[in-house]
Amino acid sequence: MQAEYFDLPDRTEVETAASFRELNRVNCLFRFSHPFESVLPQWLGEANCERLEILDVGAGTGLLGKTLTEWAARRGWQWRFTNLDTNPVALKIGGQPDGVVGSALQLPFADGSFDLVVASQMTHHLTDEQVVTHWREAWRVTRDAIFISDLHRNAMLYALVWLTLHLMRANRTVAEDGLISVRRGFRQNEWRGLAARAGIPGANVWRYHGTRIILQARKKTS
Ligand SMILES: C[S@@+](CC[C@H](N)C(=O)[O-])C[C@H]1O[C@@H](n2cnc3c(N)ncnc32)[C@H](O)[C@@H]1O
Repeated sequence: MQAEYFDLPDRTEVETAASFRELNRVNCLFRFSHPFESVLPQWLGEANCERLEILDVGAGTGLLGKTLTEWAARRGWQWRFTNLDTNPVALKIGGQPDGVVGSALQLPFADGSFDLVVASQMTHHLTDEQVVTHWREAWRVTRDAIFISDLHRNAMLYALVWLTLHLMRANRTVAEDGLISVRRGFRQNEWRGLAARAGIPGANVWRYHGTRIILQARKKTS
């Protein structure tokens, strides 16, 4: 449960901006959008993918939304992201004029406001109690699906992140946060228990290429 530099309230805007830029570099290297691209079309159905209203909870700079919007547009699909984060600096440096400053624990949206609610590498910033609230809230504001991606806690990923961050000469706070993130990651049985506590029926929890853990669940059957 060690806090990350990301979570410290007294960081300057310059420090915060530098960390988010570095995080984005690491994200691109690790292809953090790939689980979404490889799973969503088949899972939701290509016809449903033509237009999607998506909420990204803990969006940081909104890089995931930007990447996926461009990726979907190349397929002729129109995906519109709402990026929510507690950190206004992240939304600002990401150039997110429609970004919403708010908490995953109390989403400022009516029930069923989005087709899909996603979160990427955000859940590990929360306690177990907060994860349950976060997922209940995500389930409340989606009219169809939730898709949550985070880090799987294992020694191989820890070593890979350590090596990559050293080779990249990532700044010290990002390097330390990266390793803390893996230690704060999850195993499948932990997420299954939390999904049951959050009251999400039919939650599918699985491991993605040994590095990530995914939770997906739908309200609609087709
Ligand atoms: C490691 S960053 C991940 C950012 C982005 N989703 C990504 O995949 O790169 C974690 C983000 O979660 C945000 N965050 C942490 N706790 C939050 C909460 N309770 N509600 C909303 N956002 C939160 C942080 O401000 C930070 O931007």
